[in-house]
Amino acid sequence: MIQFLLNQELRREHALDPNLTVLEYLREHLGKPGTKEGCASGDCGACTVVVGELQRDDTGRDRIRYRSLNACLTFVSALHGKQLISVEDLKHQGRLHSVQQAMVDCHGSQCGFCTPGFVMSLFALQKNSSAPDSHKAHEALAGNLCRCTGYRPILAAAERACRNKPADQFDAGEVETIARLKAIAPSETAELNSGDKRCLVPVTVADLAALYDVYPQARLLAGGTDLALEVTQLHRTLPVLIYIGNVAELKGIKTFDDHLEIGAATALSDCYAVLKAEYPDFGELLQRFASLQIRNQGTLGGNIGNASPIGDSPPLLIALNAQLRLRKGDSTRTLALEDYFIDYRVTARQDSEFIESISVPRASAAWQFRAYKVSKRLDDDISAVCAAFNLRIENGVVAEARIAFGGMAAIPKRARACERALLGQPWNPDSLERACAALGEDFSPLSDVRASKEYRLLSARNLLRKYFIELQTPHIETRVTAYV
Ligand SMILES: Cc1cc2nc3c(=O)[nH]c(=O)nc-3n(C[C@H](O)[C@H](O)[C@H](O)COP(=O)(O)OP(=O)(O)OC[C@H]3O[C@@H](n4cnc5c(N)ncnc54)[C@H](O)[C@@H]3O)c2cc1C
Ligand code: FES
Ligand code: FES
Repeated sequence: MIQFLLNQELRREHALDPNLTVLEYLREHLGKPGTKEGCASGDCGACTVVVGELQRDDTGRDRIRYRSLNACLTFVSALHGKQLISVEDLKHQGRLHSVQQAMVDCHGSQCGFCTPGFVMSLFALQKNSSAPDSHKAHEALAGNLCRCTGYRPILAAAERACRNKPADQFDAGEVETIARLKAIAPSETAELNSGDKRCLVPVTVADLAALYDVYPQARLLAGGTDLALEVTQLHRTLPVLIYIGNVAELKGIKTFDDHLEIGAATALSDCYAVLKAEYPDFGELLQRFASLQIRNQGTLGGNIGNASPIGDSPPLLIALNAQLRLRKGDSTRTLALEDYFIDYRVTARQDSEFIESISVPRASAAWQFRAYKVSKRLDDDISAVCAAFNLRIENGVVAEARIAFGGMAAIPKRARACERALLGQPWNPDSLERACAALGEDFSPLSDVRASKEYRLLSARNLLRKYFIELQTPHIETRVTAYV
């Protein structure tokens, strides 16, 4: 059985289809049609809901953290122990919520299709910001599409909603909601099943490892932002799921003198501040990774686990020499990320083995790390090419080189010939051009909807040239605009 709060109502579910999304649950099981389906693939934001989770703040006080998610990509088992808020829950005692009122006052309310999603993104923004901030408003709304009019009135509503934040029913009921969430906090493995389909929801890493041993055919479900597409887009059935998002040991970031250890189930939005502080380009990449809704639910481990050739974090992590801690049963092993990817969607992961954490070396002044993402749109778009360069240059000579690309081969991969062309060479235009030429030995990219093979190779070479220019003239900040 899983249990969660539907706004303030306790729901206990025993026998739901574990492949059911929160969107279907709201609309079809509960008859709440306010949350809309536009794409069922995480692209439009019409299905945005807000999920509240218990969290302890820096002062040791329990609080509720509210985050926007795409209901179309969230399986219902991921709600276990949490609070689900949908657009129907905002109006209270006959009065619109202040974010809804701001949409009305600023003429931001347009068609009934996109508006509920915008309202829920604004609600999450209001809960998480102390003052109006146009950057944060853009970020909060980048995953909500309107196909007909403009965003200006909606941005005005965002500003008004964050400027004028009267206490709402969620603030008034916070103490009680915290008590109710504590009362349903998961303490042992839960299960949701229907016929021969099941989703297991462990709370410890040891239980996860044991369950995965018993069910080696199970699919691990982290944020579900990739996995759910198999159900919503490919119409597959996933008969056995193990949801790892409630395993506390897999979440969070530990900082050591020489490395960061990032739990595999840490949400991408939770990785942002730490990675940005260490490697500004990593922070910038994460800002351009999908939408806030996706980053709130998608995880770093999932971005590696899906083994996509166009996953954004792997090239950066490979260039940084990140290591994975893999676990199977009680045994763990460490593997360099560059050795994890073997062939298209084939990895070194064994049956019942999972990624426990990702270890990333701390930044060092000796290494020059930069990363660039080329995509058709700035926001919410997958890479055509993603490049990461990390060189150690000593007295003008390249002493060590780690260069990796996504979108150039069947796997995220190091550019070994390019690195060889640079090693021991002076860091100057001649060796740069030899290294650019060597990229042709490293990669024979494919043409697809995102880019032609010629465009990809040319982009890869030009990104290396861009890196060279940036290192020669560090005041030039060209990477923000690295999109087509
Ligand atoms: C609209 C949209 C936009 C997107 N934009 C981007 C983008 O800009 N850049 C990008 O890189 N990706 C993008 N993605 C893809 C996706 O969001 C990311 O890959 C995300 O990091 C996946 O994480 P998750 O936790 O949701 O993974 P899930 O969907 O839960 O899992 C993905 C795969 O990894 C496996 N897995 C998960 N955790 C582990 C683990 N600990 N050990 C072993 N295997 C594991 C799962 O079994 C599954 O096979 C986008 C997706 C959507 C829907
Ligand atoms: S329905 Fe479009 S993002 Fe969910
Ligand atoms: S999609 Fe709703 S107003 Fe444009």
